[in-house]
Amino acid sequence: ARVVVLISGSGSNLQALLDASTDPAYGVQVVAVGADRAGIAGLDRATAAGVPVFVDPLKAYPDRQEWDRALAAHVAEYKPDLVVSAGFLKLVGPHFLAAFGDRYLNTHNALLPAFPGIHGPRDALAYGVKIAGATLFFVDAGVDTGPIVAQVAVPVLDDDDEETLTERIKVAERRQLVEQVGRLAREGWTITGRKVTIP
Ligand code: GRF
Repeated sequence: ARVVVLISGSGSNLQALLDASTDPAYGVQVVAVGADRAGIAGLDRATAAGVPVFVDPLKAYPDRQEWDRALAAHVAEYKPDLVVSAGFLKLVGPHFLAAFGDRYLNTHNALLPAFPGIHGPRDALAYGVKIAGATLFFVDAGVDTGPIVAQVAVPVLDDDDEETLTERIKVAERRQLVEQVGRLAREGWTITGRKVTIP
């Protein structure tokens, strides 16, 4: 399957996908990496792996709608079967969702529907939950609300701070992302209401 990955940061999830995709049996070809900002480590990882990159900063467009259209057009150029948001910090708009809504995956570092938004681990710690984790889901028009593909749990330890919990979640999150993206790529999927089925 052809996969486009969208990133905004360090790209450790991207790296895990790039590493896995060197094995043809994995069934995933990362055909492009897109970002909403230049100068991030994730873009260097893509280039080092020989994968084409593109950058669409929101502020390069007159408004959000134009940005949304441009991003969708750039992604479409690579004819992806699946688009993976791996630490991509922008919410896409209606145009992007119309084009890729049933094949746009996001990984979130909390056990949804708890702690949506950009501070999953911090919010989980502040609440005092004893189990945290990561959620892989298909993006819909809400914030972290789409149909869930998989979740993985990790313990919250008494002496955790935001950094240690974030790191423990990321390790499990990466493993889950690699496993599930491979499964989706090789076997396909259907979405019925909130239910994702992998045959
Ligand atoms: C992931 O933990 C994701 O859930 C969060 O940002 C992290 C991305 O990290 N939103 P990286 O860029 O893949 O290293």
